[in-house]
Amino acid sequence: MTGPRGFTVFFTGLPGSGKTTLANALLSRLLERGKRPVTLLDGDEVRKILSSELGFTREHRDLNIRRIGFIAAEITRHGGATICSPIAPYEAARREVRERIEAVGGFVLVYVSTPLEVCERRDPKGHYAKARAGILPSFTGVSDPYEVPPRAELVIDTTSVRPEEAAERILRRLESDGFLRPTAAP
Ligand SMILES: Nc1ncnc2c1ncn2[C@@H]1O[C@H](COP(=O)(O)OP(=O)(O)O)[C@@H](O)[C@H]1O
Ligand SMILES: [Mg+2]
Repeated sequence: MTGPRGFTVFFTGLPGSGKTTLANALLSRLLERGKRPVTLLDGDEVRKILSSELGFTREHRDLNIRRIGFIAAEITRHGGATICSPIAPYEAARREVRERIEAVGGFVLVYVSTPLEVCERRDPKGHYAKARAGILPSFTGVSDPYEVPPRAELVIDTTSVRPEEAAERILRRLESDGFLRPTAAP
């Protein structure tokens, strides 16, 4: 007997775009639904331990994403569900992760496309203000690049989409791709 196919939902977007908020909303919905364990690899959490020695050069950002991708691929290979929510500003690193994961299971890239002005207005951690003031260098969107993904399974602008609705869209996508069993309509 074979178990369920593993999958990874990978969020990318500017700081403050809503990646962590959406990742947590999706995590709750997935846990509600199933027996399947779900691993969350959030950007900030990963940088505290797994990538604690890394900075914010392109090389270090790419290495951070490669590590996240490696773990997500291993979990996916064994039939698990993984949610990743780093910034992942570079297309080449995202593509490498996609290839690694698609070789062993499902990969859903969610581009959280919330515009810079909105992210900056929210500034949940005060990082944009510090970046504008020159206190925080190499800050994505201000003084460091963000490459918009040319291809994403889902594009979600949280200016107009609530976290619950975003989670719902991702669940529907996972269902239509055959990674989750559709729930009966209420
Ligand atoms: N519809 C929405 N979806 C996600 N976040 C939202 C939304 N509306 C407002 N926010 C707020 O935007 C901020 C997003 O922060 P966060 O999820 O930490 O972003 P990121 O992880 O991308 O840096 C939070 O303060 C959140 O409450
Ligand atoms: Mg975050």
